[in-house]
Amino acid sequence: MALDLAVRFADPSTVKTPLLAVVMQPGNTLPPGLKQLDTALDGALTTALKRGDFRAARDETLHLQGRGAVERVLLVGMGKPASLPLSLRRAGAVAARQALKLGVGNVAVWTARADKAGLEALGIGLHLGSWEYTELRTPPTPEDRRAPLTAATIVAPNNAANRSAIIAANAIGAGYEITRRLAIMPGNLCTPDYLAETARDIAKRHRMTITVLGRKEMEKEGMGSFLAVAQGTQQEPRLVAMEYRNGKKGAAPIVLVGKGLCFDTGGISIKPAEKMEFMKFDMCGAAGVIGAMEAIARLKLRANVIGVFGATTNMPGGNAVKPGDVVKASSGKSIEIINTDAEGRLVLADVLAWVKRYAPAAVVDAATLTGACVIALGNTATGALGNDDRLVREVLGAATAAGEPAWQLPLWDEYRELIKSDVADLKNTGGRAAGAITAGWFLKEFADFPWVHLDVAGTAYSETDLVMIPRGPTGVPMGTFVQFVRGRTR
Ligand code: BES
Ligand code: MN
Ligand code: ZN
Repeated sequence: MALDLAVRFADPSTVKTPLLAVVMQPGNTLPPGLKQLDTALDGALTTALKRGDFRAARDETLHLQGRGAVERVLLVGMGKPASLPLSLRRAGAVAARQALKLGVGNVAVWTARADKAGLEALGIGLHLGSWEYTELRTPPTPEDRRAPLTAATIVAPNNAANRSAIIAANAIGAGYEITRRLAIMPGNLCTPDYLAETARDIAKRHRMTITVLGRKEMEKEGMGSFLAVAQGTQQEPRLVAMEYRNGKKGAAPIVLVGKGLCFDTGGISIKPAEKMEFMKFDMCGAAGVIGAMEAIARLKLRANVIGVFGATTNMPGGNAVKPGDVVKASSGKSIEIINTDAEGRLVLADVLAWVKRYAPAAVVDAATLTGACVIALGNTATGALGNDDRLVREVLGAATAAGEPAWQLPLWDEYRELIKSDVADLKNTGGRAAGAITAGWFLKEFADFPWVHLDVAGTAYSETDLVMIPRGPTGVPMGTFVQFVRGRTR
């Protein structure tokens, strides 16, 4: 359920709430705004600070009994913030996750330091921390049930700037919710058709034009590369484009592209059984596009943005494509398929060639493309590669601002050698060395416009519990997409 976020001005001691989260920076002195609360709590706050029970280190929390209107108090530390907004976002997520655990249903949050950007970030953090996916579980019995976190109040001046910060946080929170839900949904439920229907629903609500291609239409377009992947599945493949036009009339659009593999078995080059279930996440690029289009529309950004994704499922079978097969992409290039598990780039080749029709100002694609990128950058940074260094820097900046750090990998000409084929224009794998880069090079062959590729294989989904995010989808690259578009409207 979506979090209902509001801003309300009051002295924190007077806010009627089951849980007041107080976000603090290190320092032994009590922020002046907490004086009355401290008094109401018989000096519990000053005592905790004096004793060093609470030092406001990053992610540190201390739970205190409340008094009067404030039933409980949760002190939340920020540490010394490198970026105040991102630290507030993290503290918001910590507060929301604690509120979720307690089952209090709603939370109030106070902090001494929050300008407009800080408040937005805090709000996004609350959205991130309150998210959970319970649709497929039998609800617990009433006695075991804990209330979901459905409402949060930020205690701050209720002025126009702060209200617009909350509206922005709600827009971005809604985007993350869509992205994460799609990402965690199992492959039997989140099918290419389901992704297309979700996009259709968003397009309808926000009056976007939507185009949905199936197998037949792709055949007409000569998309032999995409269709080579899709020939192994009975499910209808989908190429979807959502057009949001709210910028200058006729201005070249920004195109966001996502890999939407609803499941990746590897195909005939089948993956090992262990952890294969995680390959339901192979549509996180597409989920990021879909969530971003919702957020962009809610933010009413003055821009022309087209969200595009290619969705299918990579399956083995009697009709599946085989290693050694040569196919032809819609751009005319022939591809030798060495490994059917390098399917994302085959899908994206035709999608990238297809979006050229929009004469884009810039194209940013996101894909859970390579295990090699996870080896290179771990689960901390997204890999970024492109054919235009200024655009790469712009996207890196957007990623940083969104709290979804990315790092550039080189696309030097030397690496192109690795995907030379004996029989075709190129082959779809270049061996183990520089695997994220050769995948990027493969895409570059189809990107005839300023373009950046984000390899989110390591960052879109977490196999472990993180501070901000429980095990599961992180929402990456939704925030980067939105921040990138935002950056171009300022
Ligand atoms: N979806 C995977 C990438 C992936 C692998 C993400 C492991 C997260 C963890 C992609 O389709 C894939 O299978 N890539 C292959 C490419 C190889 C065959 C050149 C890979 O990375 O192993
Ligand atoms: Mn694969
Ligand atoms: Zn894949």
